[in-house]
Amino acid sequence: MKIFINNLNFSYNGSFSLKDINEHIGAGEFTAFVGPNGSGKSTLLKCIDRILIPDNGEILFNDQDISNYSREKVAKIIAYVPQNEGNIYPVTVFDAVLLGRKPYVNWAPSKNDFDKTAEVIEKLDLEDIALKEIYKLSGGQRQRVYIARALAQEPKVLLLDEPTANLDLRHQLEVLEILKLLSEKGITIIIAIHDLNMAVKFCSKFIMLNEGEIFATGGKEIITSGNIKKLYRVKVKIINEDGEIIIIPLSNNDKPMKLALA
Ligand SMILES: Nc1ncnc2c1ncn2[C@@H]1O[C@H](COP(=O)(O)OP(=O)(O)O)[C@@H](O)[C@H]1O
Ligand SMILES: [Mg+2]
Repeated sequence: MKIFINNLNFSYNGSFSLKDINEHIGAGEFTAFVGPNGSGKSTLLKCIDRILIPDNGEILFNDQDISNYSREKVAKIIAYVPQNEGNIYPVTVFDAVLLGRKPYVNWAPSKNDFDKTAEVIEKLDLEDIALKEIYKLSGGQRQRVYIARALAQEPKVLLLDEPTANLDLRHQLEVLEILKLLSEKGITIIIAIHDLNMAVKFCSKFIMLNEGEIFATGGKEIITSGNIKKLYRVKVKIINEDGEIIIIPLSNNDKPMKLALA
């Protein structure tokens, strides 16, 4: 499913705002929102999922304007995995994933809902822990459960806010590999992510945000030391080995903080 963001503006009571966002994200694309803390990545993800309602502008999914859709109808198109799942309830992995079927369930899950849940659990290799309570899982396992729950929604668009934060290297790779496979199967995926090396390894499109505005958009060609220096005020060296891009941070461009050494 293609996403068109046209002239989107959003403001939290006049303080921070997203300004004139215009973007086109292709179907089955794996897109990374990158940019400094507070640049608006999470806010833009929430606008796409209609958790936040833009002040003006529109977001189209293929040609559909979903602004009048019910929450259930939106949830059949978009699944959103927030950065921090606040409370972790004592539910099993199976029940947590089954919750993803909520938009399809009237009052009791059907056989189809249970089948879909089992199918997703198998797909994400969660069978062995399906009856474990989620608070007993490692961060990487729990992230996989949240992705499974989102997939049980059968979305066309999957939004994830920093899905690899707090994961070790192996689990970061695991989560991003799963997401890449899903994007290759046609799901349009957008993640907010800080690790530029991981972003450039897995994603096909990059949207750089700075203070609520689009700073740059494009493929790997926009991951340049010049752009990174302007965006983060950090000097980096970029190595391109047969198309594989490696970003090495060199120094903070700001003056060092005066340390009280007394
Ligand atoms: N609910 C809110 N009310 C007011 N300001 C907010 C709220 N949520 C986020 N902000 C502010 O909006 C700006 C962008 O935040 P956010 O979208 O979370 O950035 P990012 O995800 O890029 O770190 C920040 O300055 C943040 O403090
Ligand atoms: Mg954020």
